[in-house]
Amino acid sequence: MTAIPTPSYVTVDPAPRLVFGPGAVAEVGPIVRDLGVRRALLVTDPGVAAAGVAARVEAACAAAGVAVTVFDRVAPSPTLADVEAGVAAARRALDGGELAVVAVGGGSPMDAAKAIALGAVNPVPVRRLDDPAAVERPGLPIVAVPTTAGTGAETNGFGVVTDTEAVRKVYLGDESTVPVAAVLDPELTLGVPPPVTAATGMDALTHALESLASRRANDVAAGDALRAVELVSAHLATAVADGRDLAARSQLLLAAHLAGRAMRSTGLGLAHAIGHALTNRAGIPHGAALAMVLPAVLRFNLPVRAEAFGAAAGAFRFRSAGPTAPGDRTGGPASAEAAAHRLVDEVAALSAAVGTDRPLRAAGVGPGLVPVLAADAVADVVIANNPRPATEDEVAAVVTAAL
Ligand SMILES: [Fe+2]
Repeated sequence: MTAIPTPSYVTVDPAPRLVFGPGAVAEVGPIVRDLGVRRALLVTDPGVAAAGVAARVEAACAAAGVAVTVFDRVAPSPTLADVEAGVAAARRALDGGELAVVAVGGGSPMDAAKAIALGAVNPVPVRRLDDPAAVERPGLPIVAVPTTAGTGAETNGFGVVTDTEAVRKVYLGDESTVPVAAVLDPELTLGVPPPVTAATGMDALTHALESLASRRANDVAAGDALRAVELVSAHLATAVADGRDLAARSQLLLAAHLAGRAMRSTGLGLAHAIGHALTNRAGIPHGAALAMVLPAVLRFNLPVRAEAFGAAAGAFRFRSAGPTAPGDRTGGPASAEAAAHRLVDEVAALSAAVGTDRPLRAAGVGPGLVPVLAADAVADVVIANNPRPATEDEVAAVVTAAL
């Protein structure tokens, strides 16, 4: 396969250490203790706390002799104010000693935790934590415990935080805030409701596909990304239909992690640029926003990434539920372009099977908002990785196609 353009130089960091499997949450305490730290700030959100999931992590820490302070005031799409409150909590817990940060939740608590870990030891306004010149000390060590299978936030050091004044996302963190360990326990995801399971699964799929298509695509990342596509396409509809299916939950949690590893060396692209704008301007949850625009973005990028998309279409061969996609999924060789079109059909069929195939109008987005979304998307740094350069007018056309 020569589908994936390979740059002349790629660096792949093996962090975080991965601990994966049912019951893995018990390892959180020993991992923190092995860092030489006896106190932890557990960063989570009210929903995860109310579901009792944070309490399981707290118990695992206590069993290993690690004292826990809980900070559970992270909002969905965390803001700079959330981070400031977390930094204050971390500094109180730190009190001149050692402290680890244990991030428990979906993308929001993990993103906030990175900024909190860095802000706790760097006396600058949290807004400046994206500036290497302002950051003098490495962040507190982070152990990440994802409770949804989607963001892959446990694989990288950058937290996406909303600057509510500027109405845009900022990326806070650095290499020191890559979690030292990612503890993937699928039992923690059994209670995730079907719509969230569907949306987060589509987020993971989007990470894998944008990684494969990125200007910085490479074959190391492609290995992880293609496996992630296989796992999401094979198991997402099952997990949406039966949230207690531990095998499906396990495979999705691993898929999200692999897609996260893939995007770490490639970046993302246009779907995320538009998706961030949709969350900021229309309040649409991240994964749901991505699912609504992904087919249109794939069609836009298809002319310059036909071979990579064809490879991704092949990774859908294990799809086991939902309507059969149009086209020949098992036959002989077809043109690269035909295979790439099949990817768009497969993605649309999977999205329909899990109920995320809504038009933007259904979420309250009308034509009047399109120019604002397009302007936001071209200003988002993530668009730099998109394989096909996109003008503001072209982005507006992609969004309009998803209306
Ligand atoms: Fe994402």
